[in-house]
Amino acid sequence: MTLSVTFHKSPRSRVDTVVVGVYADNRLSPGAAKLDGEHGGLLADFLAGQKKFTGKSGQSAFLTAATAGVVTRIVLWGLGDEEKLDGMACETLGGKLYPVLAEAGAGDSDFIAPGWDAAQAARFGLGLLLRSYKFDKYKKDTAEDNAPQGVALIGEAYSAAAQNYKMHAQIAEGVFFARDLVTEPANVLYPESYAERIKDELKPLGVTVDIFDEKKLQKLGFEAHMAVGQGSDHPPRLVVMRWNGGGAKGKKVPVALVGKGITFDTGGVNMKPTGEMLTIMKMDMGGSAAVVGAMKALALRKAKADVVGVVALAENMVSGNAIRPSDIIGSLSGKTIEVGNTDAEGRLVLADALTYVQKTYDPDVIIDVATLTGAVLMAMGNEYGGAFVNDDEMWVRLDKAGLETGDKLWRLPLHEVYREAMKGQIADLNNLGSMTPYGGTCTAAGFLELFIDEGRKWAHLDIAGSAWTKADRPTCPKTFTGFGVRVLDRFIADSYEA
Ligand code: BES
Ligand code: MN
Ligand code: ZN
Repeated sequence: MTLSVTFHKSPRSRVDTVVVGVYADNRLSPGAAKLDGEHGGLLADFLAGQKKFTGKSGQSAFLTAATAGVVTRIVLWGLGDEEKLDGMACETLGGKLYPVLAEAGAGDSDFIAPGWDAAQAARFGLGLLLRSYKFDKYKKDTAEDNAPQGVALIGEAYSAAAQNYKMHAQIAEGVFFARDLVTEPANVLYPESYAERIKDELKPLGVTVDIFDEKKLQKLGFEAHMAVGQGSDHPPRLVVMRWNGGGAKGKKVPVALVGKGITFDTGGVNMKPTGEMLTIMKMDMGGSAAVVGAMKALALRKAKADVVGVVALAENMVSGNAIRPSDIIGSLSGKTIEVGNTDAEGRLVLADALTYVQKTYDPDVIIDVATLTGAVLMAMGNEYGGAFVNDDEMWVRLDKAGLETGDKLWRLPLHEVYREAMKGQIADLNNLGSMTPYGGTCTAAGFLELFIDEGRKWAHLDIAGSAWTKADRPTCPKTFTGFGVRVLDRFIADSYEA
């Protein structure tokens, strides 16, 4: 269970912990000043004797107060400079508070909102919620779990804040679904089971879910996608999700999201070393999880937009039937492809999915999301998603959505030279290309661009770094971030629902 965050007008009578905000230089927030008054100047006295606590953002100090036989733990929570508390700062502060409460063994807590508006309070609540994420379905023993039960945000703007928070929490549900999916091991989550899971989760929310099995994919000509999956005992799947919140009629859909869903990437015959496989290759469906999570968020908050999400699921395994380096395969587009490296499988499944959405839905914009290259991880670590966008104005909107939600993107180049490098010797294309080992993120994007129609607006997000984190973050415990859900949701909200 994740944390329950609620909103109230005035403090509750029986809570074991009360959190009050202290601004920089130990200026008491209104809530803290009130509590101070109720306890005869206790907080001010305490702070006067403090050397380390200065109200810096994320600092904490504890004291205990007793009134009429009831003992309450008081947490002073450093808020930093009041002018700096934009939405993201409030979210971060909420996220950082969660482990402090957990560490203290706090049960039910009140946070006395320090004179904030509804948006600030709601973002603080979102931070708490996002950080409270846990994946413990395979743990029998959760006795040591010190999770706080609930936090109530207390303030005048409580009713508007609760409204606002509801929407954030719906999007967080999408993020959590993505985190869950990525965390699932590959013996549980493989193409067939993943496809069913998507259907089970999204259909009740009003999303139309179509699953293409291997026979259908074969018949339709998904030759590149099928080739990637042919070494696995688990056959490939393509899942098509439709959210029709804008009420569009007919086949055209304005927004298409496409996700790479390699449920496990051994590398194939070009096999990966053990370490790399163990830590992160069950994560190779992270792009598809971002798309599925975004579809869930859109459905939960009943987005007024028409969106199709397509995820290409396959397992990249080694077997007597696996593709070999130097094999030549076909693709849905008709282009032939030399397999320069069986570990460059993501671009192969994406090529067919991209062709399919363009032919079928004629979208105005496509965003694909994929854990595509190790090179993007080398370049930017776990911090940024690499963004390739063939339209400047679209990039401005994506960049803004990324900054506002914390799914940070950095633009990387699309260029003729990268596309040229992906031409084949004896087939049309080569999935490894002639620039290797350099420019791996850009050449992968160049390969995908060769499957995008002239004039179609398209963005490719390489999230091989940003899909995970080696260390806890303010709003995300390690390991999987659910990166992509929020930026996709926000991009759609800003561009199609405004
Ligand atoms: N799934 C990997 C990319 C990856 C690497 C994701 C590290 C997460 C962490 C992808 O399929 C891959 O193996 N890419 C190769 C391509 C190369 C063979 C051209 C890579 O980046 O090394
Ligand atoms: Mn690979
Ligand atoms: Zn991969």
